[in-house]
Amino acid sequence: LSPASFVVVANRLPVDRDIDEDGNSDWRTSPGGLVTALEPVLKSRAGAWVGWVGAPDEDLEPFTHDGMEIIPVPLSGVEVRDYYEGFSNGTLWPLYHDVVAHPEFHREWWDSYLKVNRRFADRAAEIADDGAVVWIQDYQLQLVPQMLRERRPDLKIGFFLHIPFPPTELFQQLPWRREILEGLLGADLVGFQINGGAQNFTRLVRQLAHYPTQRGSIELPDGRRVLARAYPISIQTQEFYDNARLPETAKRAEEIRHELGDPKYLFLGVDRLDYTKGIYQRLRAFGELISDGLLDAEDAVFVQVANPSRERVEEYKRLRDDIERLVGRLNGELGQLGRPPINYMHSFYPRDEMAALYRAADVMVVTPLRDGMNLVAKEYIACRQADDGALVLSEFAGAARELRQAYMINPYDINQMKERMLEAATDAPRNKARRMRILRRQVFEHDIDRWATNFLDDLGSCTRSR
Ligand code: G6P
Repeated sequence: LSPASFVVVANRLPVDRDIDEDGNSDWRTSPGGLVTALEPVLKSRAGAWVGWVGAPDEDLEPFTHDGMEIIPVPLSGVEVRDYYEGFSNGTLWPLYHDVVAHPEFHREWWDSYLKVNRRFADRAAEIADDGAVVWIQDYQLQLVPQMLRERRPDLKIGFFLHIPFPPTELFQQLPWRREILEGLLGADLVGFQINGGAQNFTRLVRQLAHYPTQRGSIELPDGRRVLARAYPISIQTQEFYDNARLPETAKRAEEIRHELGDPKYLFLGVDRLDYTKGIYQRLRAFGELISDGLLDAEDAVFVQVANPSRERVEEYKRLRDDIERLVGRLNGELGQLGRPPINYMHSFYPRDEMAALYRAADVMVVTPLRDGMNLVAKEYIACRQADDGALVLSEFAGAARELRQAYMINPYDINQMKERMLEAATDAPRNKARRMRILRRQVFEHDIDRWATNFLDDLGSCTRSR
């Protein structure tokens, strides 16, 4: 294996092993915003990606996929339970998302997090060339920057957090807060989705470690400097647009509308099935719009795509049950024979089908209770072929900072959500066009290349540690 001058380290590889009913296995793109965003960045730089294959006890040799060096990191069944489902998604995920679910603190989970972070750091240390740039991703690997620096002080180390960085009051609950803070400070540059996250972080640095900070620059006791800044992540806008533009996508979009009974208003939600996404709240709002008579079940259809996610974690099981029960109830109460008002799909959708759905939808409904960015909102905008359609967006998504022309909502306020969803559907075309024009310009001008370039340029100009 040749040493790489550019290395991405992320919990998940960009490809997942997909095993069908006959036991045949194949690789398919992993779910979630992180992979969507980073895959094109790595492909264009021919680097190495260090990550987990997504299944327990698989120890694979490195291989090449689509021009990327893939360096698999194995996790045992116990580590999947304690490091991934446990500490990453039972402790950190809810804690960093405003405790919308209750975080659990278990010492065995932490021990496993420590051990697995060390393994990722070791793999990265082995593959990185002299003076290479190593870019570590997300909350599952917050200890890697420091661990890697200890072994390889020659490297340029960047870290990007894809989820919100919480207010210090919440972060301070963590029994391992100091370890995580020092872990992150192993990087030269720590990136966040929005300014608020970077500010929460520097405030924490002052409170917990008493290191001086000045405009996002942190001075460590050994004289090294760490930069903390916001880099709002984005998508390959042009590719989404081009894909949605294809005649076959247009045709499929027509078909979808027809299959749904040619509704006047097609509402769409697309999420990983996660309790942070506000799926339950939005479906309730939609149901009430119909039961109140503000929308007619003849005219309006809601398509909710819910990508299966973290299915063995208790909170996710509960959420799935809750949503399926709600959908069943609403369709039973409000639907007519062969015309359920809510079409709920608990499955993975191929990219082409997603493009057709985005194209077909009149109103995209993105209502997270808390979200680092939310790339679905940007994908919908990118797929518009004209200044039409409408985006309903939660003010608690990172994307709300940029997409100010969306129909903005507070997902905890069901009445407001109803009003805005109705407004988004029935607004005059010229009002929609005025909003969508600005949204499209924003997403075209701030695409994924710009995000990566901004981050990597800043990382490049960080002075080498010593
Ligand atoms: C979010 C996280 C990513 C994660 C993705 C999918 O986008 O920020 O780090 O990879 O969700 O979640 P999963 O647990 O399936 O990797």
